Amino acid sequence: MENERLEIHLLLEAIYLKYGYDFRRYAATHTKRRLEHRRKMADFSNFSQMQHRVIHDTDFFETLLLDLSINVTEMFRDPWFYKRVREVVFPYLKTYPFAKIWHAGCSAGQEVYSMGIFLEEEGMGDRVQIYATDFNELILQKAKDGIYSMDLIREYTANYQKAGGRRSFSDYYTADYESVIMKRSLKEKVLFSSHNLVTDGAFGEMNVIFCRNVLIYFNRELQDRVLTLFLDSLCPGGFLCLGSKESLKFSGVAHRLEIVSEREKIYRKKRV
Ligand SMILES: C[S@@+](CC[C@H](N)C(=O)[O-])C[C@H]1O[C@@H](n2cnc3c(N)ncnc32)[C@H](O)[C@@H]1O
Repeated sequence: MENERLEIHLLLEAIYLKYGYDFRRYAATHTKRRLEHRRKMADFSNFSQMQHRVIHDTDFFETLLLDLSINVTEMFRDPWFYKRVREVVFPYLKTYPFAKIWHAGCSAGQEVYSMGIFLEEEGMGDRVQIYATDFNELILQKAKDGIYSMDLIREYTANYQKAGGRRSFSDYYTADYESVIMKRSLKEKVLFSSHNLVTDGAFGEMNVIFCRNVLIYFNRELQDRVLTLFLDSLCPGGFLCLGSKESLKFSGVAHRLEIVSEREKIYRKKRV
């Protein structure tokens, strides 16, 4: 094994043994790029040196965890996706007196509040329980707080309108000088909790699972493990929504899902 690959292998092993976070089956190119970024920033000449710091300095590990988890997100990300969700997923949700939705890898919560807003507009706010999970506690706290920079609101408002929002986006938050805070009624509908898709188990009988822009960071074997976890967590006929660059094409579980909308990556668990 070439030295750098060996050092990365040992570093990921050390992170797993010391902190329990398992990045060993994340996509190798992504992991290497993120580790390289931190190595250069912290001025280490190789990954073995960085490993010593990771093991002995929890704060440094927390920084590295943020590097590896990639928390990029936005409200109504890919507005056309939300438009389609409204067309194909909501009619299904309306057939249930009570439904459960899981946002896995929810980052700072923008995806969760986007869905909460549309549920409210469809008059379904009280008939749905939303679960939102992420393995990064820091980012999960941001999701719970629901506070976003004012600078982002123009873009979020445009996305909301493109997605087919029916009111004024400002109905859903209270503005401060520099930030906005999401409406309490939206926050109250969500149960935020820590969940690691690599090491934790299935999550109840869900009607819809959103896991967008997360699988892209996993290798094929891990993607299949996580997709199986989703299938085990979905009720028959339940929907699975992935990110625009993610696909079931080469997955070993593709036969258990039917394609509802290829472009929007909306799938449905087959009824056996
Ligand atoms: C790029 S963000 C996507 C956020 C949102 N779903 C979206 O599409 O805008 C990826 C999120 O996945 C989370 N994540 C990465 N690995 C994870 C794991 N093993 N278990 C749970 N969440 C994970 C990261 O912490 C991050 O918040």
